[in-house]
Amino acid sequence: MYHRSVLLTESVDALGIEGRMDGVYVDVTFGGGGHSREILARLGQKGRLIVFDQDEDALANVPEDKRITKIRSNFRFLENYIRYLGVGMVDGVIADLGVSSHQFDTAERGFSYRFDSPLDMRMNTLADLDAAQVVNTYTAEDLVRVLRDYGEVDAAGKVASAIVSARTKQRISTTQDLRDALERFFNSQTERKFLGKVFQSLRIEVNGEMRALEDLLEGCTRVLSDKGRLSVITYHSLEDRIVKNFFRKGKDDGTFEILTRKPVLPSGEEIEGNGRSRSAKLRYGERTRS
Ligand SMILES: C[S@@+](CC[C@H](N)C(=O)[O-])C[C@H]1O[C@@H](n2cnc3c(N)ncnc32)[C@H](O)[C@@H]1O
Repeated sequence: MYHRSVLLTESVDALGIEGRMDGVYVDVTFGGGGHSREILARLGQKGRLIVFDQDEDALANVPEDKRITKIRSNFRFLENYIRYLGVGMVDGVIADLGVSSHQFDTAERGFSYRFDSPLDMRMNTLADLDAAQVVNTYTAEDLVRVLRDYGEVDAAGKVASAIVSARTKQRISTTQDLRDALERFFNSQTERKFLGKVFQSLRIEVNGEMRALEDLLEGCTRVLSDKGRLSVITYHSLEDRIVKNFFRKGKDDGTFEILTRKPVLPSGEEIEGNGRSRSAKLRYGERTRS
């Protein structure tokens, strides 16, 4: 299976498609297409679904359906594409952030410390920056920033020093090289948590995930129609904070109504069936234009 969708019903319910069945909706993180297929099942024949993914593997899954337009691009350019396509305003945007299981479980993509593979981690395989460049060329200060801000790695300074010291002896090219450079920071009990944080921080840096999210949210303010809905699933606290603050600011300046006072979390049953849903949080809101 390419990817098992998280909070599928809840996040698509949030779009309120039944009220605008022939509207225009955008799934900015197509992945395995679970959310898109659910949208299509609820969408009228005159409705339209625009899907984005920056990973071409994902877009190979797009079903044949005259209502779909697929775009291989970073979702930070949402507004540009909506203008280019000439669709006017859109009625709903859904974002299910982070990586898909396919990306995570494909060894050669380098997202996981479970496999020995080149340190890549690019969602967009045409992008210039990969994880090997980050660990081999960033200054110690920049590595500390990445590890601390994006992974909440304890002792980020010491971890950064260990990377700098290892790379002076030999380039760190593979996930195994990175593990070897950091072996004194974890044991078999702490490996999953420690390496999980380090790899997450590098992935966020390589893909510019926080900046892309901020640009996406800004773009949504401009492309959503009156009462258009924005539904966002996040997987770690930094992302969730950005989304929460965006909606709060929107409430204060009158551009959004918050429809989730607290985030919607997966049920115990969903977490049991899909461990990767454990950290998911769904927030949604409605664009208000006076
Ligand atoms: C968690 S998966 C989405 C899964 C999908 N909702 C499903 O049900 O199958 C996230 C997807 O978003 C894509 N993605 C993440 N950040 C992106 C960005 N800034 N621009 C475009 N695509 C992005 C990834 O390549 C990945 O395929």
